[in-house]
Amino acid sequence: MRPIRRIALSTGGGDAPGLNAVIRAATLAARNRGWDVVGIRDGFNGIMFPDEYDGKGVITLSRESVRGIVHQGGTILGTTNRGNPTAFPVQQPDGTWVEEDRSQELIDKFDEHDIDALISIGGDGSLTIACHLYEAGLRVIGVPKTIDNDLERTASTFGFHTAVDFASQCIDRLFSTATSHGRVIVVEVMGRYAGWIALHSGVASGAHAVLIPEIPYDLEHVAETIRRREERGAKFSIVVVAEGAKPKGGDVSIVGKSVGQAERLGGVGQAVGDALGELTGKEARVVVLGHLIRGGSPTAHDRLLGLRFGAAAVRALDEGHNGIMVALNPPTVDYVPLASVRGRQKNVPLDSDTMLTARDLGVNFGDAPPIEPNLGES
Ligand code: F6P
Repeated sequence: MRPIRRIALSTGGGDAPGLNAVIRAATLAARNRGWDVVGIRDGFNGIMFPDEYDGKGVITLSRESVRGIVHQGGTILGTTNRGNPTAFPVQQPDGTWVEEDRSQELIDKFDEHDIDALISIGGDGSLTIACHLYEAGLRVIGVPKTIDNDLERTASTFGFHTAVDFASQCIDRLFSTATSHGRVIVVEVMGRYAGWIALHSGVASGAHAVLIPEIPYDLEHVAETIRRREERGAKFSIVVVAEGAKPKGGDVSIVGKSVGQAERLGGVGQAVGDALGELTGKEARVVVLGHLIRGGSPTAHDRLLGLRFGAAAVRALDEGHNGIMVALNPPTVDYVPLASVRGRQKNVPLDSDTMLTARDLGVNFGDAPPIEPNLGES
């Protein structure tokens, strides 16, 4: 393997608070080894389509360019969840779309730029692309990123803590207005097909019901939970719904799907709010937190995790690793094969301590009647 002189960083998929911490740590750790560092704009678009960037699709990352960015949300490199180079959407003359594998073209571009290795920072989609590029001959290290916390082989991802923290603060605020009006408030949170954000923010903020993709729901159980609370004098209820939650025997709510992109989830909160209003006769309001929980400054926890992942990715390259992902295996950061992450999704284990805690607290998951006996307390 030729010695490393120049590496590239790329951020792909939905942004997550903590990305800039990875960029800073990887840049400084590489510069401290005497390596040059470049950043590719908007996933791989900056290197694939230089004309669209006036020649600035690949930018030099220096100490100065990564100064003061750790506390900033988003990514200074930009990102995209379109234009997967291994399955690039191309429109045919008849209007239909086909997917082309353009990964060799991308690898050739890396050669043109004298890039010896890539640190690819992303979620399941970007890490699958990274694995493909590694198998096609590129030297690649993956860094796991997602607010959804749904990546396998790592205890958690940066962005998740910030998302849960902010969602919990929002739910805290909804308690007072729900109490004043005696309403049911349904809060929809992101998370794709995993319920981590809904579960953690819902339990941390004392929600009365939490609906997650891992447990298809029957709203009669949630309605009964609300009625029981009403009988005990608690006129309001808070229900947290993961965007990927679905009714028993039903399917997830989809906003839409465009070519070359994953399906966009959304709408389940409104459906749940409408149905609970009818079932309980109470006034229900729906709040969709959406991209708010993906923005903003990362928590100290996510900054540190991002810094640890960025530095570990450079150490891994320096130690001669290839085709691996850095992963949190508390208390340390390990390396796991990229191939072991591909195509897998980490869901909430239903026997996990957090789930058991929630059940002990009487949180209803829409799969069974409320457990707490009616003792006349609220
Ligand atoms: O994967 C992160 C995430 O924020 C999901 O929770 C959500 O479903 C999706 O991205 C939204 O993506 P977009 O940025 O395309 O709206």
